[in-house]
Amino acid sequence: VLSNLQQQPADALLALIKLHNADPRADKIDLGVGVYRTDSGATPVFAAIKAAEQRLLETQDSKAYLGPEGDMDFVHALMPYVFGAANPTFDGRIEGMQTPGGTGAVRLALALAKRAGVARIWMGTPSWPNHAQIVADLGLELKGFGHATPGGQADMDSLRAAVASAQAGDAILLHGCCHNPLGIDYAPAQWDEIATLVKAKGLLPIIDLAYQGLGEGMEEDAYGLRRVLGEVPEALVAYSCDKNFGLYRDRVGAVYVMMADAAQVNAALSNGHALARAAWSMPPDHGAAAVRIILQDQALVALWQGELDEMRARMRQVRAKLAASGKAGAVDLAPLGSQNGLFSIVPLNAEQILAMREKHGVYMAGSGRINVAGLTMGNIDQFIAAVADVTSA
Ligand code: LMR
Repeated sequence: VLSNLQQQPADALLALIKLHNADPRADKIDLGVGVYRTDSGATPVFAAIKAAEQRLLETQDSKAYLGPEGDMDFVHALMPYVFGAANPTFDGRIEGMQTPGGTGAVRLALALAKRAGVARIWMGTPSWPNHAQIVADLGLELKGFGHATPGGQADMDSLRAAVASAQAGDAILLHGCCHNPLGIDYAPAQWDEIATLVKAKGLLPIIDLAYQGLGEGMEEDAYGLRRVLGEVPEALVAYSCDKNFGLYRDRVGAVYVMMADAAQVNAALSNGHALARAAWSMPPDHGAAAVRIILQDQALVALWQGELDEMRARMRQVRAKLAASGKAGAVDLAPLGSQNGLFSIVPLNAEQILAMREKHGVYMAGSGRINVAGLTMGNIDQFIAAVADVTSA
């Protein structure tokens, strides 16, 4: 029976990691999977994480099971950052649980929506390819609408039309900040309108916040999420610490449920516990424990925030340099200057993307997405010249 399993293509984005590793060229450039890199191209462990891990090593006295909800002190310590220090539980209406990374959080949020009776998910496209894969794997119906206009602005007309054709009880999946792959985020006034539209239609918002702090700042990047949650009765939030704490392979995330009434929260979340138990039983502890140790210590918080500020400043510097270069062959790099986070799309076709890789050793996703953190002051001119070369043939 197992011979019924047909060969599947490798995940295109993750396959790039191996292709890049196998390339012997010394001047190759990896703009594939979304990991932050320093100006020397490294993805170091945060100093705040190292300090927290040291403390964990010295003080952890057991590795006995915690439970499907994971480390609840971690889950709670994040809440003021996500939902605001003034009222982090929205009067007891929000509670969460730990998940294996942002993917685990999105998976659980969508599975909870399905269990609650949601059948259709509205989502701006293009999106992170794994969103559509998870929606399909759960047997939910995906309804796409354009996330951005050809001119590179968030496409509010398309969102308005999508909400107008949606039915009450559908869900809408929104990127909280640092849109993946476009880098084009809704402005605060647009979030205000989205909050009103979603509430009026009776849609369930599912907000994926995987890059908080990598866009404009921790508070700024939570604006849309807080605005929408402030308006609607119910919501789901998928959160990732993989990027803003640099914990990628340790898989640190959380899912939060907001209910209309605090008395409904435990019942709703017990479904998350049951789903987690049947899928992965419990999330891995180590990374979340390190985040908890940081968030419970003001000195470590300051160290972590300084590191996050430095990452954001470097990505702004790369973006400013790309924007200042203006045209690279047929491609205008100017719009990348005002986009946010790790990703932007460089509009190249499949043939040009292949030439970027084969001729110039530049690895980027098949969508034309680049990880701007893969660019450094040492390789950015080479990248710009490569774009110019493949588009001016
Ligand atoms: C990405 O889009 O590169 C990241 O979110 C990593 C991943 O899991 O795909």
